[in-house]
Amino acid sequence: MNSIHHSFCSQQRGRRLRVKPDFTIRSSAPSDEDRLKEIIGLSFPRFFRFFASHSLDSEGIVLVCEAERLVGGFAKLTEFSVGSGSFGCVLWLAVHPDFRRQNAATSLVKAGTNYLFGRHADAVFASTQRGNLGSLATFKKSGYAHIGFLGLWRRFGWRVFSLYRKIWYAPGEIVLIHDKANKIKRILE
Ligand SMILES: CC(C)(COP(=O)(O)OP(=O)(O)OC[C@H]1O[C@@H](n2cnc3c(N)ncnc32)[C@H](O)[C@@H]1OP(=O)(O)O)[C@@H](O)C(=O)NCCC(=O)NCCS
Repeated sequence: MNSIHHSFCSQQRGRRLRVKPDFTIRSSAPSDEDRLKEIIGLSFPRFFRFFASHSLDSEGIVLVCEAERLVGGFAKLTEFSVGSGSFGCVLWLAVHPDFRRQNAATSLVKAGTNYLFGRHADAVFASTQRGNLGSLATFKKSGYAHIGFLGLWRRFGWRVFSLYRKIWYAPGEIVLIHDKANKIKRILE
């Protein structure tokens, strides 16, 4: 992926204009670990920090976005099967407070989703707290839609519980799906 440098602010007729940086998206490297832990510390409640930190080393890949050689956020991606279907999940997503509202999360979700579809995922999932407006807006902007229990049941039957486990679904969360080819009409067929 291309490396693009962009100034955060530019001078125009004496006024300072805020310009959204262009983010480079790449896979994480061991040298990113401290910065990723800092972002986790600033982004999640205490209970979730432990799981988010551990997920950095567990199965799957971590994409980071970078501007001016500084990592601004990350997305943890996983792949799994349920029945005969192959799926992907954006398991964790966080952006450093200094980089928020500048399209970083959207860039990460779009790049991660394309990566998972490129690896033949039939659909990609995410889940988020109902009240997390930033997260919901990011996923919806990136092509995801809310899917309720009945929608999942129609596609997965009893295997819906296996799906919930794989995406680390917690009660009270909303499940989001990117089903670009409408491939999973019914996974049991
Ligand atoms: C949620 C989060 C990842 C969004 O990151 P971000 O880089 O600011 O998101 P983007 O700039 O790509 O914004 C995408 C859309 O969401 C909207 N948005 C972002 N934060 C928002 C907020 N707090 N409230 C309402 N809308 C918000 C943006 O306006 C944008 O929509 P628009 O283009 O129509 O204006 C970031 O706030 C974060 O790290 N939060 C803490 C961790 C978390 O909740 N992670 C997600 C659950 S795992």
